[in-house]
Amino acid sequence: MDTNLKNIANQFKIEGKVEEVVPLGEGFINDTFIIKTDGNPSKYILQRKNKKVFSPIPAMMDNIQKVCSHIKAKVEKAGGDPMREAMTVIPATDGKLYFLDKDEEYWAVCLFIEDTIAYEAAETPELAYAGGKGIGKFQSLVSDLKEPLTDILPGFHNIRIRYEQWDAVLKNDPVGRKEKVQEEISWIEARREEMMAFWKLVEEGTIPTRVSHNDTKINNILFDKKGDVLCVIDLDTVLNSTVLNDFGDAIRYYTNTGKEDDTNLDNVSMDMEIFTAFAKGYLEEAASFLTEKELEYLAFSAKYITYEQVLRFLMDYIDGDNYYKIKSEDHNLVRTRAQYKLLTSIEGQYDAMKKAIKEIIS
Ligand SMILES: Nc1ncnc2c1ncn2[C@@H]1O[C@H](COP(=O)(O)OP(=O)(O)O)[C@@H](O)[C@H]1O
Ligand SMILES: [Mg+2]
Repeated sequence: MDTNLKNIANQFKIEGKVEEVVPLGEGFINDTFIIKTDGNPSKYILQRKNKKVFSPIPAMMDNIQKVCSHIKAKVEKAGGDPMREAMTVIPATDGKLYFLDKDEEYWAVCLFIEDTIAYEAAETPELAYAGGKGIGKFQSLVSDLKEPLTDILPGFHNIRIRYEQWDAVLKNDPVGRKEKVQEEISWIEARREEMMAFWKLVEEGTIPTRVSHNDTKINNILFDKKGDVLCVIDLDTVLNSTVLNDFGDAIRYYTNTGKEDDTNLDNVSMDMEIFTAFAKGYLEEAASFLTEKELEYLAFSAKYITYEQVLRFLMDYIDGDNYYKIKSEDHNLVRTRAQYKLLTSIEGQYDAMKKAIKEIIS
């Protein structure tokens, strides 16, 4: 075994002697390992945190700790099991929530939750419903967390800031691509007012700012063996924003019948059945704390987040592909067109989406 990993594991307040540290899956953002010890508990999750994406890591770990202790207290009060229904951060031996190694890499440990099911994708209405419940339950548990979190991803889902970046990139046109994407640019400009009008409601507080998760993929939800939601993990991206962003982003990725970079636009559409299932699961948990205004804009959030993604892909294309990794020269343009197809599918079904939400909450 990698003695370095073992040394790192030993920097944390774990029970027993470390027996092995083995890689877990292939993380896109963080590197994840399982620590096995002869103690009780005997399994922990060790992660090297990606400091290029999240910075500063100590503030991020503080955010995670605030959220976890808040959830634990509530689970305990409700008679649940705080070690299974919440993530448990294991501090380093010096009491810090992370360990900084000699290569300036940040490491963090949490308790491994045993006997869980994690799904890789939500392709059926049943799984979409379960995913909706998971996100709704998480948001509900933290809906009364008043302590502010550090803004770990400044400008995230903030369309005002996106437009500032967009306007600058269009003005500079650094690689001369603007001319050939005039039609795509018009897709963005045609919806500018509509999107800004929504964001102003967030800025002025008409739509409240709460704790949002910001990575609502179903593999970030742990279920027990019966299939009930245990807890939401991967809390690196928790921040204060409108929770509608979580809903919208989940709809963007759960309901797409095609791929994010599908070259066949006929494949891409929003699956209404998946939408309704996710919304049902979500609202069963979240309807009780959401305000009238939030409920009113729930369906809109799917448009907002999908639109923002169209903008980001197109902006990166015009900017010369600096942000998203590309596999072909026009990959970002392909992504732009596929996300736009999804956006128009959402727009086409918008009234039905609003009706479905009304029916669920009535
Ligand atoms: N505390 C935990 N208990 C059990 N499994 C976990 C735990 N934390 C993470 N995992 C598993 O590891 C996977 C990756 O962890 P995650 O924190 O989501 O990292 P990434 O940033 O790579 O998505 C999860 O999808 C889950 O299957
Ligand atoms: Mg994850």
